[in-house]
Amino acid sequence: MQSDNPTGKRVILEVDNPVVDPRDVCAECLNRTKIRYPDGGNFFTPRLRSINHLEVGRSKIISSPVTIIVEYVVLLYQRTVEGVRRLLRQLFPRHPRIRGRNFSGASFVGRTTYAGRYDHGKPIHHLPVDIWARTWWGSWRHLASGVSGKDGTFRLPYDLREARSWAVRRIRAEVSQISFVYDQRDQPRPVHSVAESIHVPKKELTGMEYNLRDIQIGLWAYRRDTPIPRTYINDHDHDAPERYVQGRTDALQDQIIPIELTKLKHLAQLATAPESLSIPQIQADYPLNLTTCIENTLPPELKGYTRGDEFFGARMMNGMNAASFRPDPDHPHHYWMLYWGYQGYDHNDVFAFPTTEIKYSIRPGNHTPLPVEIIFTGALDAYHRDPWQQRRFRPGDGARWTYAKRVARSVGGLVAEVDDHFAHTHTNTEQYALAAFRNLRLNPVNWLMQPHLREVSLVDHTADRILVSQRHGYIPRASALTGLGIQQRVEDTMGVLDWKGREPMRVINDAHTYAKAENLFWNITREYVEEFFERNLEAIAEHWYEIYRMSEDMVNHSVRVFRSRIDLDRLDARERKMMEKRITYFESRYSFDPTLPRRTVNGELKILSPITESETFLDAQPGVLQNLKDWCVYVIHTATFMHTWVNEHQYEDIGEVLYSCLGLRFGEGPDGVLAPESDYRIAPDPVRATQMMWWSNLLSRTEYGFITRNEDRDVNPRFGEMLKAHEEEFRSYGVIVDDIEARTNI
Ligand SMILES: [Fe+2]
Repeated sequence: MQSDNPTGKRVILEVDNPVVDPRDVCAECLNRTKIRYPDGGNFFTPRLRSINHLEVGRSKIISSPVTIIVEYVVLLYQRTVEGVRRLLRQLFPRHPRIRGRNFSGASFVGRTTYAGRYDHGKPIHHLPVDIWARTWWGSWRHLASGVSGKDGTFRLPYDLREARSWAVRRIRAEVSQISFVYDQRDQPRPVHSVAESIHVPKKELTGMEYNLRDIQIGLWAYRRDTPIPRTYINDHDHDAPERYVQGRTDALQDQIIPIELTKLKHLAQLATAPESLSIPQIQADYPLNLTTCIENTLPPELKGYTRGDEFFGARMMNGMNAASFRPDPDHPHHYWMLYWGYQGYDHNDVFAFPTTEIKYSIRPGNHTPLPVEIIFTGALDAYHRDPWQQRRFRPGDGARWTYAKRVARSVGGLVAEVDDHFAHTHTNTEQYALAAFRNLRLNPVNWLMQPHLREVSLVDHTADRILVSQRHGYIPRASALTGLGIQQRVEDTMGVLDWKGREPMRVINDAHTYAKAENLFWNITREYVEEFFERNLEAIAEHWYEIYRMSEDMVNHSVRVFRSRIDLDRLDARERKMMEKRITYFESRYSFDPTLPRRTVNGELKILSPITESETFLDAQPGVLQNLKDWCVYVIHTATFMHTWVNEHQYEDIGEVLYSCLGLRFGEGPDGVLAPESDYRIAPDPVRATQMMWWSNLLSRTEYGFITRNEDRDVNPRFGEMLKAHEEEFRSYGVIVDDIEARTNI
């Protein structure tokens, strides 16, 4: 009796009465391994300084009791200072009313500009500027207030008598950034945080203009060392344009410390006695994930279910990969799924990464996809390196079919991690965050989008180091892709990602719960955005200039269209056929429309469609409002649902080293990666094995900032209410509404 079932029939196995259905075990294990947030430990529990100190090797955690006490004293000091400041704010509140009577003579003038090497002197529009006077007894007097214009200049009239009053001890000009907090639904309260503060000598105020000159502010800048639109951050702790909220660091700490300690223990043991630690021992030290839980729970006769066809198809359809299925033109119930392997990307010769095509039989109704053929193109062992060699496997191939599925899972894991997780949700969202934070201030779209765009630049900066970089990153050391190869691949993937024309995934059959959930979330988001636009249309149109500037930034900095870098005429027939197939599949997966009009900048066809090309709403073309709505829906959807999906399912689908890793080694055997799981020469080595368990747990377990929990009160509660109204339907698709993150921050 076996659970691996190529015929597509549901298998119910009777073992020692009662009947055990592996699907029930899967459901039970999904629930048992669900991540929950426990108590945060005791006083002497080791701590992590911040998310910026994570490392694949040894993260900078604090474990010495003396250091913990010192840290605690520092924390107490910081909290005391903050408490005193809070008290002072209450004792000496800042009333917004402007003091004075005669505003006709004197004024403050100046200009808000970017600081930094490349944007130096470039104006920043619509930044709030305030002039505050402080009296000898500590109270605040508001002397002037305004917002810089489109060219960054400002003129703020003030009453000279008020400013020169004997009661005034000092005066300062403050330039602020704006964020928003919701005390009640639909009504955001702006919160100003000072970006730059300038002392104004009282005696220099003469009744004429007082020129504050160019006020240089280190706001959001583009990196210049990559074609991918990324935020410039030199030092995470000092010059980043934003900071993690404390709750984000706390959530990380609650979950990651046990995982970090396990990894440190393994690394220490492997450094001194490498033979004393095996992969199963490493695996056993980490929490159960979906696949290990299922295998541990099933009776001995059913072990191996997670390596069977039914489980393979179910996870490819509704797991982390959430793969796309393209109909086979020659067979009504057959579909193809493709994972693009080497394909010319910079790679090493240690790990296999063949292009993988999987054919499935998918019948209408509630039927799981069943793999019926797997085709690899590229090397599978250390001896035959022809990149065009092709091998086909079918369910009748016995053990080799099982090995082939494992290779396909690992290739799929790497593709999902690099293309779908990092490129599609992280860097894709970052390019919109950067354009939005540089330009949105007075336009209501700012408070709609801000909660979904926070912190992604920070976490991407960390991912560059711990996951992507050639020197320190995990992926280049544990897969075929080098750091350069990952960069090339991310650029190509972003070259098919346009907000315009995007549609949610088509539902294949009743078992396709991922696509059902994606469609449901998409529709609710659209309804939420429509409501928002109805309420705020006038102000959105009034501040259209910000939308124009945001659109210009995102279009001009976007990567080139993927297909535009390919000259098909220069490829030979074989290469051309493969590339055409790749373009078709790639563009279909991300619903890219090559017929849309796009802009060429410096000889590059830019991937992102403009939202508008007019500075004012009155001059804009018909359809721009719909463009803006579509853009909002797409960006919110990507930053929230899409990222949550791929992120939270990682420990289910790549949380067991031998089940699926990001790269199987060729090893020394004649069959290379076509070998059983017991052949540890092809599995990740123990160091990489523990590192892989560390980061897959890290990414899935440390989420923070959920839409319905709204920890920072920055999301309009209306969005959470709308999602909660569909809670049961989401649950039927395996989605817990309360677990959908509002932002991409891990
Ligand atoms: Fe993530």
